[in-house]
Formats: sequence, structure tokens, C-alpha cells
Amino acid sequence: MLAELAAAVRPGITTDELDRICHEACIARGGYPSPLHYKGFPKSLCTSVNEVICHGIPDDRPLRDGDIVNCDVTIYLGGVHGDCNATFLVGDVDEAGRDLVRVTREAMWRGIEAVRPGVPVNEIGRAIQEHAEAHGFGVVRAFVGHGIGEEFHTAPSVPHYFDPNADTLLEPGMTFTIEPMITEGSWELGRIWADGWTAPTRDRSRCAQFEHTVLVTTGGVEVLTLPARRAARVLTAPGPSAAGAGPRRRD
Ligand code: MF3
Ligand code: CO
Ligand code: CO
Repeated sequence: MLAELAAAVRPGITTDELDRICHEACIARGGYPSPLHYKGFPKSLCTSVNEVICHGIPDDRPLRDGDIVNCDVTIYLGGVHGDCNATFLVGDVDEAGRDLVRVTREAMWRGIEAVRPGVPVNEIGRAIQEHAEAHGFGVVRAFVGHGIGEEFHTAPSVPHYFDPNADTLLEPGMTFTIEPMITEGSWELGRIWADGWTAPTRDRSRCAQFEHTVLVTTGGVEVLTLPARRAARVLTAPGPSAAGAGPRRRD
């Protein structure tokens, strides 16, 4: 579904059109779009443009050349939820915006690579924060990753910064998301829009995000939301930190 959205993003398309593509892609697979009517959310997809951190509601505004847009897709299929997102470049994005998106993707993978049984959940945020701040970017505190499975949002919370209190030890079988939101300027949350959902940065600086759903395995981690064609390769690939683990590093 996310790949279908990636192919559709271009200057001039509205986020309502992206929502329709997402909805139809979900139904075509026999799933239900988890965001639709979740706590009153009105659409099947979250679309967060430029200074929006997350939970943007698709509308009739056409995307403009130079925007960045995050599409956050969740499907309920076979009795469980799968949650993933990516930030896309709309046409020609300035260098600072491209750097923000690249570093955010890298930060997500640093977080995923920190996952293995026996380590505290806060090692994920430590790895993400180190990478983001080394590039002069901020890490959003107001939203965190989450346990996921038969329910959309469960324990544990997965902060994307180092939180000494997040000391839950990871165990094989746990499923949760890693979804860092990284800012060009201040990491602070601004006022939620009058729609009750859209969450902007306080200083209106741009924010990027990437998300995967992961499983803790006895050997480390398996990413559950990779595109299907790559999933088979991942099963035979070496651990995520090993050289040549190419497929795991893509989204
Ligand atoms: N997919 C989002 C997440 O990563 C949650 C969206 S909830 C909605 O947790 F209601 F805004 F859709
Ligand atoms: Co999520
Ligand atoms: Co999500």
C-alpha cells in the first residue's frame, strides 16, 4: 500500500486522492484501514505535510513542488494491525529538506538495529537520538512508538529519545513500532489544529518520519512491514548489523 502511495505522490495531487488510493489498496487486499473511525479519525490514511509532525487529515489541498509529505498506512488484516509510514519528496525539495528526510530514515534503521532480546526498550531511543542530534536535528517527545498486534496501540511505549525510565526488557515475540519524528528546528509540539488531530511543530519547522512494525526474535529483530517481494530475502539475510543486509535497510 505504501509503495502504491509512493508511486502516486507528485506535485498537484491532493491528499484526499492519496487517501482514496490507500483505502482502495487496503480493501483490495481484504483488509480494513485501521485509521478510519479510530477514535473519530475521519480518513483511511494520515498525510502530514511539511511542519506537521503526524496525524494530518487528508484534504483537498494539492501538494506543491518542494513539499515533503508523510503517508502513514495501517491495515487490519488477519486479525492484526500492521503500521508503517514514509516521508516522500514532492518534486524538487531543497537540500535541507532532503537531508532531513534521509537522516530520519537512517535514524529509524538505527533504532531497528538496536532491537534484540534482553536490552531495555530505551536503547532504541538512544540510537535514534544520537543519530538525529549528530546532524543538528531534534527528536519529537510528544509521540512515541507503540506495541501493536490484535490492538492498534498497546504497551510498551517506544520513545525515540533516551528515556531512562523506559526500562522494559525486550523479549522474543514482542511486536511494536519504531517511528521517529525528526525536526529541522524545535522538537516541541505546537497547538493541535482545530480539527482535533493535526499536530504541528511549535516553531513550524519541517518534520519527517519513517515507521516500521517489528518483531523481537531470539536472534534479534524481524521487520514485519517490508514490501512483500523483499520479505522473502529478509528471512535468509544475515542479522541487521551485518554487512550486506541490504533489504533490511530499505523501505
Ligand atoms: N498510524 C499512526 C501511528 O503510527 C496512528 C494513526 S491514528 C489515527 O501510530 F487515528 F490518526 F489514524
Ligand atoms: Co504507529
Ligand atoms: Co503509523
